[in-house]
Amino acid sequence: MNPIYSGMGTTIFEAMSARARATGAINLGQGFADGRGPEAVLQAAATALLEKSNQYPPMPGLIELRQAVADHYARHQGLNLAAEEVIVTSGATEALAATFLALIEPGDEVICFQPLYDAYVPLIERAGGVCRFVRLEPPHWGIDAAMLEGALTDKTRFLLLCNPLNPAATMSSAEELARIADFCVAHDLIAICDEVWEHVTFDGARHLPLIGFPGMRERTVKIGSAGKIFALTGWKVGWMCTAPPIARVLAKAHQFLTFTTPPNLQWAVTEGLQTQDAWVQEARHRFQAGRDRLKAGLEGMGLVTLPSAATYFLSVDLAASGIAIDDVAFCEKLIDAGVVAIPVSAFYAERPVTNVVRFCFVKEDATLDAALERMRAARETLLG
Ligand SMILES: Cc1ncc(COP(=O)(O)O)c(C=O)c1O
Repeated sequence: MNPIYSGMGTTIFEAMSARARATGAINLGQGFADGRGPEAVLQAAATALLEKSNQYPPMPGLIELRQAVADHYARHQGLNLAAEEVIVTSGATEALAATFLALIEPGDEVICFQPLYDAYVPLIERAGGVCRFVRLEPPHWGIDAAMLEGALTDKTRFLLLCNPLNPAATMSSAEELARIADFCVAHDLIAICDEVWEHVTFDGARHLPLIGFPGMRERTVKIGSAGKIFALTGWKVGWMCTAPPIARVLAKAHQFLTFTTPPNLQWAVTEGLQTQDAWVQEARHRFQAGRDRLKAGLEGMGLVTLPSAATYFLSVDLAASGIAIDDVAFCEKLIDAGVVAIPVSAFYAERPVTNVVRFCFVKEDATLDAALERMRAARETLLG
């Protein structure tokens, strides 16, 4: 058996969700939204299932969806992608896997910023790559020039950037992105950009894609997910966008991973990208209200939260809150109190930050209120 998998535990999200089910705790751990997503998109999926072909769609995706993705990014991010530069995948996770498998040669080094999404490391290592970790820290989780230079070796070929960053809930500034772009150009690196959270942004701030920075158009793979745009995380419809020479190689990896993605979901996502900008905007406001509700509740009981500019998540800084135990121990106490959250140390492969706990706020008001009530009832134990 391959040790990358045989030595690995269940993901923290699955483990914590299982604890929530077993104990009846309120699950503010795994990132999925309450609610049904846009009705027009659900209806389009149902109609396409009954009325359109259910046989293999084209390997790189329906051309209508590829065009809709390109148009969407032209409208929202000022990009000039052609439909042929978009390859539809079964979720961003497949896009990541296909990208790593297609591009990494054994021994190639990939600069990875911690905290990181837990799929990255095993996928990179299974593709033969070596992760070079850069450790980001609260409260700003920023990336500076010294960190980039410090991670560079003569084997560095790729830089993997998750922006907006799950779990930190930060968005890279134009200045930080320009610094990263210059670094990639100077050292001839390909940037792999996981931008699944690009539309879940708050306070009027807008996501800037690294592929739009000077010198990056030909050396970036931009990865997105309809699951996140329309809060339909179970759908697993994603895509990778990149210049033709890279796209051709990525398509080869995709063709032997999944080959394609359910056609009715592709039709429905096409419809969503073409017609649901208002829903996406309204969802932003709704999620932001959830963030503010949870933040007010947590701060009301004396916990210090970190800024949340994007994603479904808000974090508590235990050290700043005067809590001496680490994030894992705090999450255990939380489960006893009837609430599940995620210890951020789980997002580090080495030298973890251990004083931050992540909560998901895209829940019904009543669910957030009930979780806060349970925490208030256990306040002495939690803060003690
Ligand atoms: C940073 C990041 N990348 C990728 C994914 C997975 O996306 P998908 O469900 O489209 O595979 C997630 C899901 O939470 C995520 O947070």
